[in-house]
Amino acid sequence: MTEPRGQWSGRLGFILAATGSAIGLGNLWKFPYITLENNGGAFVLVYIGAVALVGVPIMIAEILMGRRTQMSPVGAFKAMAADRPGGAAWQGVGWLGVLAGFTILSYYSVVAGWTIHYTWLALNGHLSELASDPAVLGNYFGNEFLASGPQQVLYHVLFMGLTTGAVFFGVKGGIERVAKILMPLLFFILVILVIYSTTTSGFGEAIRFLFHPDFSTLTTGSVLEALGHAFFTLSLGMGAMLTYGSYIGRDFSIPKAALQISFLDTLIALMACIIMFSIINTSNIEVNKSATILFTTIPTVLVKLPGGGLLNALFYLLIGFAALTSTISLLEVVSSFAIDELGWTRHRATLTMGSVITVFGVLNALSLGGHGALSSINLIGRESTQGVFGTMDYLASNWFLPVGGFLIALFCGWVLSKATTRQELEEGHGTMAGYGIWSFLIRFVSPLAVGAIIVSVILGKEYQ
Ligand code: PHE
Repeated sequence: MTEPRGQWSGRLGFILAATGSAIGLGNLWKFPYITLENNGGAFVLVYIGAVALVGVPIMIAEILMGRRTQMSPVGAFKAMAADRPGGAAWQGVGWLGVLAGFTILSYYSVVAGWTIHYTWLALNGHLSELASDPAVLGNYFGNEFLASGPQQVLYHVLFMGLTTGAVFFGVKGGIERVAKILMPLLFFILVILVIYSTTTSGFGEAIRFLFHPDFSTLTTGSVLEALGHAFFTLSLGMGAMLTYGSYIGRDFSIPKAALQISFLDTLIALMACIIMFSIINTSNIEVNKSATILFTTIPTVLVKLPGGGLLNALFYLLIGFAALTSTISLLEVVSSFAIDELGWTRHRATLTMGSVITVFGVLNALSLGGHGALSSINLIGRESTQGVFGTMDYLASNWFLPVGGFLIALFCGWVLSKATTRQELEEGHGTMAGYGIWSFLIRFVSPLAVGAIIVSVILGKEYQ
């Protein structure tokens, strides 16, 4: 006996849940620091181009496949490839997605767990003490907090518990409900922080840095990094959008939804930059361009502002909310695989998969202690392969997502017939004037661009 398949209550439910998946540590943590590393303006423009020309078309492709088949990635590829060239072999892309979900969640949840600890530290006043001296906070973060195995495991397990709890209650009752509460709250906190940053003296400089492109500083590496990040931040290449798309009704427009989700994701990434750069510019501290700004630099600045303790708490709460709606989508990909392919009930699927990933993630949590830990913390970092944590991250971000995205683009652009994709995209949308543009992007631009990432990773590895 199989349970009825879940569905979103409506358009808003889907948009909020999918936007929740997209907005996460990628936006609030990774994007600001890679923007800083790549000198702002020109990088931001390239990134926006990558989202529009590569991200949006692939997101449309994923949602299209999900809605068409009403199945998660493995089943969706199986069903759609049945009578096409390549046949059953295409389901491998679905398997890769499940593997990516598993892998990413096992380390993402560790970092997400830090936000619980920092919110708590901010609320009990401890963070204000630590943050009064950047050296003290840096030392606390690197040598005490990360090095403490029990703490790393505790917060990871807590975060996985929250994630599993949400997915356990299903599409409408769990995932959508959480997104409907957290997303508006997240937006609200962000707006407060943006308004706050406009009052700081570093605001003008932050805007200039972000929106005045200087193309002379742009390198090939930056372009590839912008492309790779577009993938990660839009949750593409592993079937998260495909899975969420499998719960939508036939009566609404897929292209419009993909544009809205991508727009919101980009908007929030830029808001995060405005907040962080204003804060950093306002103080005179030297920012070490590293992945740990979020947990070592930001609190030391916020604490100096009026109401700093509370701002810090709000700030980490915000990051935790954003991360939770992302981890939920990662677990949903893995769970829905067990539901659709193995015939498990949702409860069994979420509890089993949630526990297995939690246990696996403990290895990541424990790998942070001591040696070289800080340098391995680099979400979607190209260069870091240190420790279990770094390896997971390296594999997922440099291999699984780009390869998955590349194959999704090939499949929808070249293997499926235009009649099929056009029909699915026009359902709930009406005649699609932009179909030709989408088709061109998904057939040529996306595979070439994503192919370039893959080639660069291969070359980069060889020449290391
Ligand atoms: N998009 C999320 C972020 O930016 C991460 C993520 C990747 C979530 C892939 C789901 C799937 O943090």
